[in-house]
Amino acid sequence: MRLNSPQINLITKACMKASRSLIRDFGEIENLQVSEKGPGDFVTSADKRTEKIIIDELQKANDQYGIISEEAGIINPSNTKNRWIIDPIDGTMNFLNGVPHFAISIGYEEESEIKCGVIFDPIKNEMFCAEKGQGAFLNNSRIRVSKKKKLENALLVTGGPKHDSKIKKQIFSEFINISDVSFSSVRKFGSAALDIAYVACGRFDGYWQREINYWDIAAGTIILKEAGGFIDFFEPDDKAPLKRNILASNSNIHDELKDLILKKNIE
Ligand code: IPD
Ligand code: CA
Ligand code: CA
Repeated sequence: MRLNSPQINLITKACMKASRSLIRDFGEIENLQVSEKGPGDFVTSADKRTEKIIIDELQKANDQYGIISEEAGIINPSNTKNRWIIDPIDGTMNFLNGVPHFAISIGYEEESEIKCGVIFDPIKNEMFCAEKGQGAFLNNSRIRVSKKKKLENALLVTGGPKHDSKIKKQIFSEFINISDVSFSSVRKFGSAALDIAYVACGRFDGYWQREINYWDIAAGTIILKEAGGFIDFFEPDDKAPLKRNILASNSNIHDELKDLILKKNIE
């Protein structure tokens, strides 16, 4: 990897450290104490332990930066200039069920723009990372989005809807619109961070999802952009501060995919 800002070095180190305990916890999954946060949304003790290791490591280097982290919430709220955006385990339901497809995701935001990010899959030992202007990498190799031009040949991935989503019908009708065009059936792998990372390295050609959270995709946005991909947010309210509906793909199929998602939904 040829990235070397202090921030990318720090988040890479924090990821590696946290992943050691995460791998141990995954090996003992049946012993984990599981608590219910809400329907379909569980937090494990591993989640909290991983988050603590990451936050401790980042704060050892700088305790003034702001933090937005899924479980801990907002730390140092007055610093909105420099912030770490953390999802300690993205793919919690996979993790909980012993499915080896989840990741740690950490992004660094400066002046409201993500400058660098790391998504680490500790089971496959795959580290996706990128820094603005420096390219995107999977372990030591440069990555690029796919070159596929036709949506019908594209392999696409999505996620959701959440159990309590109020727009399930809309989400499923978008799924139908897209399934009608693409020959391969749409994938659902259960980790938004890895979905974007897989688009960035060309395994998938496009990813879309409604109702995501900032920590799910913060690191992914810079990795995808640096890999030559396009990111779009299709919000009903353009001025909404937090964008929740994302489309990430190679540049060739982006517009067609966007039109399909936004086309009038099937009743
Ligand atoms: C979830 C995963 C999943 C996506 C959900 C996310 P979590 O994150 O990324 O793929 O469909 O919207 O909430 O809860 O595993 O961190
Ligand atoms: Ca997540
Ligand atoms: Ca999570």
